Amino acid sequence: MALYLITGAAGFIGSSIARELVRRGDRVRGIDNFETGKPGNIATVRERIDFREVDILDYRGLKEAMAGVDWLFHQAALPSVPLSVGDPARSHNININGTFNVLLAAREAKVKRIVYAASSSAYGETLTLPKHEEMVPRQQFTAMASRAETLPMWTTQSRQICWPWRPPPAPRQGRATTLGPDGRSL
Ligand SMILES: NC(=O)c1ccc[n+]([C@@H]2O[C@H](COP(=O)([O-])OP(=O)(O)OC[C@H]3O[C@@H](n4cnc5c(N)ncnc54)[C@H](O)[C@@H]3O)[C@@H](O)[C@H]2O)c1
Repeated sequence: MALYLITGAAGFIGSSIARELVRRGDRVRGIDNFETGKPGNIATVRERIDFREVDILDYRGLKEAMAGVDWLFHQAALPSVPLSVGDPARSHNININGTFNVLLAAREAKVKRIVYAASSSAYGETLTLPKHEEMVPRQQFTAMASRAETLPMWTTQSRQICWPWRPPPAPRQGRATTLGPDGRSL
């Protein structure tokens, strides 16, 4: 039976994928460092999956978690745009360097396919809604520069995902600042 690995398994989307795979009877391994994820998110499946507390920045732990994996859902990230503005180094480290680690470890382990959760935040604030894949991603610091979409790979892309246990976020106060490569507002 194929083995699925979910990074960010204790997060909103990762834990939802874990529950669905378990429901289907699949073999699941999950990793998370509880940066923003919560043990409660995986409480109902924790005993039925091989859960490991691993940071995607820890290459050795990642490599061990990748052993024997067939399919990979990469959901570990710091998805918050405001966070990427407040502490860009942290977002960059987890989203870019962490994802790069995941890709390298997956290649070493000969994982068959990686599904990466891209985000429509890469398009920035747009007047046209809903956003769509034909839009041109914006090279803005607030979103694109701290997202792994800049790495060459196939991605899945989702908009704001809400669920009964997770209501839509409160509207943002004001507009996100869009910075150019020189650090000035565009
Ligand atoms: N939720 C949405 O509406 C939405 C929409 C579009 C795209 N996405 C993308 O889907 C992905 C998952 O989003 P989410 O809403 O589940 O976020 P989330 O914050 O609930 O989950 C992210 C998980 O990654 C874990 N994590 C963070 N840093 C880690 C590290 N260094 N090592 C291991 N684990 C780490 C966190 O602890 C958390 O459990 C993100 O890339 C996000 O941008 C989400």
